[in-house]
Amino acid sequence: MTREDELFRINDTAFYTFDIRILKERIGYIKAALPEDVSVCYAVKANPFIVREIERDVDGFEVCSPGEAEICERLEIPSKKMVISGVYKTPSFIEKLIANPDFDGTFTVESPLQYSLLCGLSQQYGRKISILLRLTNDSQFGMSEPDIESILLNRDRYPLVNHAGIQYFSGTQKSSVKKLRREIEHLDEWLISLQDRYGYTAGCLEYGPGFPVAYFAEDEFEEAGFLSEFSKMLEEMTFRTEIVLEIGRGIAANCGRYYTHIVDIKQNKGRNYVLVDGGMHHIVYFGQSMAIKQPKLSVVGKPGVNTETKWMICGSLCSMNDIIAKQIPLPDIEIGDILCFENTGAYCMTEGISLFLSREIPAVYLIRENGEAVCVRPAYETSQLNLSEYGREQL
Ligand SMILES: Cc1ncc(COP(=O)(O)O)c(C=O)c1O
Repeated sequence: MTREDELFRINDTAFYTFDIRILKERIGYIKAALPEDVSVCYAVKANPFIVREIERDVDGFEVCSPGEAEICERLEIPSKKMVISGVYKTPSFIEKLIANPDFDGTFTVESPLQYSLLCGLSQQYGRKISILLRLTNDSQFGMSEPDIESILLNRDRYPLVNHAGIQYFSGTQKSSVKKLRREIEHLDEWLISLQDRYGYTAGCLEYGPGFPVAYFAEDEFEEAGFLSEFSKMLEEMTFRTEIVLEIGRGIAANCGRYYTHIVDIKQNKGRNYVLVDGGMHHIVYFGQSMAIKQPKLSVVGKPGVNTETKWMICGSLCSMNDIIAKQIPLPDIEIGDILCFENTGAYCMTEGISLFLSREIPAVYLIRENGEAVCVRPAYETSQLNLSEYGREQL
């Protein structure tokens, strides 16, 4: 059995760890803070590596692409737990799901075209399907209120289609209680008006609250108070229905750590540079803001910092943009030291431009609750992915 501390010896390049104990504690914390009857659906895009580990801890999975569906299928996640979401639903993929008599997941509907596709396939295969109509947040996602209302007005045309409810996701990193209140109050009023005007009772509100994660010192916020306010807002809704919260970042972020080795140290024109073997192709904090704000990081085995010297931490790509952190105080460092970036369990890994410069994709380890470090993906040479098959045949 490999222990977490052995990973530093085994890996001579960057890697990620996702700590399952921290992850499960996090889900437990969020659930305890929410009203008892509210369910939690994990957004797979935040981190597909932890899906199997939390299958029993969450009520469902939001699946946003054929690739994510394949991951869930291969992990034998029951289709009943899947909400097939996404602004582009590949028609052949949707047909495959609807044609499959064993599939009983739910589909979201992001446009009138998607509605026609889903209803048409349901009729063609004579299969009952369940859908959630996604309300837009004034972006390319979801549908306008009039579009949804027009669907609901004519919903009897499709007796095989269960118009199960409404989905609404308005953005991520939302820490303003005021904004969430406005959003929930509006949803509440609109759901009541659907009942009054169209005799439609939404059986479910699948709502993405976009819970914030404090990545940087200036992001700190009082989470317990925030969650308690949020729960109160849900409880105060007049329209009573099943509420499912779609959460990605808020569940996955704090279980993740990214480790990268210091491979060079230098001073250029009075600036101190640390070069690491990872870089922005591996790790992206929220919206590339990592070089503007200071992410939480430490040097393995070296507590404290020397505040006299500030460092630019740069990755190993041929790009001046490959700056992971700016003006960071570190302890006294040397080549071979390992930097640990905290809170990297959500999106950080998959939003990196992993194929740039044909560098390796980092290995991924799950740290099981008994302390065992399990390698769930070895480091990958991306040169194979960047090699033209056509070119190879011609050689
Ligand atoms: C439809 C939907 N639900 C849930 C999420 C998860 O959001 P977050 O990671 O902010 O919780 C997203 C993120 O893009 C989304 O698009």
